[in-house]
Amino acid sequence: MKPQILLVEPMLDAIEARLDDAYLVHRLYDPAAQAAIEAARPAIRAVVTGGGSGLSNDEIDRLPALGVIAINGVGTDKVDLVKTRGKNIDVTTTPGVLTDDVADIGIALMLAVFRHVAKGDSFVREGRWARGEGFPLGTSPKGKRLGILGLGQIGRALGRRAEAFGMSIGYWNRSPQDETGWTAYSTPVELAAASDVLAICIAANAATQSIVNGEVLAALGSKGIVINVARGSVVDENALLDALTNGTIAGAGLDVFVGEPRIREEFLTAPNTVLMPHQGSATRETRIAMGEIVLANLEAFFNGEKPPTTVN
Ligand code: DGY
Repeated sequence: MKPQILLVEPMLDAIEARLDDAYLVHRLYDPAAQAAIEAARPAIRAVVTGGGSGLSNDEIDRLPALGVIAINGVGTDKVDLVKTRGKNIDVTTTPGVLTDDVADIGIALMLAVFRHVAKGDSFVREGRWARGEGFPLGTSPKGKRLGILGLGQIGRALGRRAEAFGMSIGYWNRSPQDETGWTAYSTPVELAAASDVLAICIAANAATQSIVNGEVLAALGSKGIVINVARGSVVDENALLDALTNGTIAGAGLDVFVGEPRIREEFLTAPNTVLMPHQGSATRETRIAMGEIVLANLEAFFNGEKPPTTVN
């Protein structure tokens, strides 16, 4: 009999087909599968989940044979790494392959906010252009200062792209990354004060919860915009919504939110704000590459080897 695995959220069809070939896949998101999942819990040794979904401690406790949680993403904030290590459960991610696409979404959001792309689309569709209404001028990225909060692989890729737009780059990171030649700031507030665009690329964990707070947003100032391609939890959303509504900052481009996909309603009417449904890594090419890493991790685990991209 094939090994049994639990799939928390859908993956690309081509990857799911490969999972189905190798494993008996229980789909947690399928209402019709729930009874079978209850019966299979003692036999399930692997879980595949998304970075935004993770796996709760309650679910972990209900899977006594669990040996690996393969995250289809790089964010580990929704899995308790200490608890899993204590239970000898490997947690794996898909490093490297999604870096460029997430950085691209960061640039897309920045340009969308600066050049009113989403607003322009509705403007044309609603016939307002044809009626001769005026459309606001945008802001050029050229000569502006990009501040990157969290200079990991994604932050670096975003910085390299922004340089091509003629922007200067500063960053805040726990440890300075001198070889980049970019300006390091010693606190998030100092970075924000020296930035026109604050791009949030930092990993979510207990230490970075709400790291972008009211003080950081006030320092960014009324011409500054926030881009978030990391996680909603690293931003104090009350402070962000206040800052957008009061004009403390000029706008935001957001791919991630607390409580997504059921985000705070105030975001829907927040001025000069472009919203995306957590699509950073969501290209066909990257989802295939991520799926290959998930498959390789499962294969190693079921062969009795250490999964290659274990993080805990
Ligand atoms: C990640 O890699 O964690 C992305 O956000 C996808 O969930």
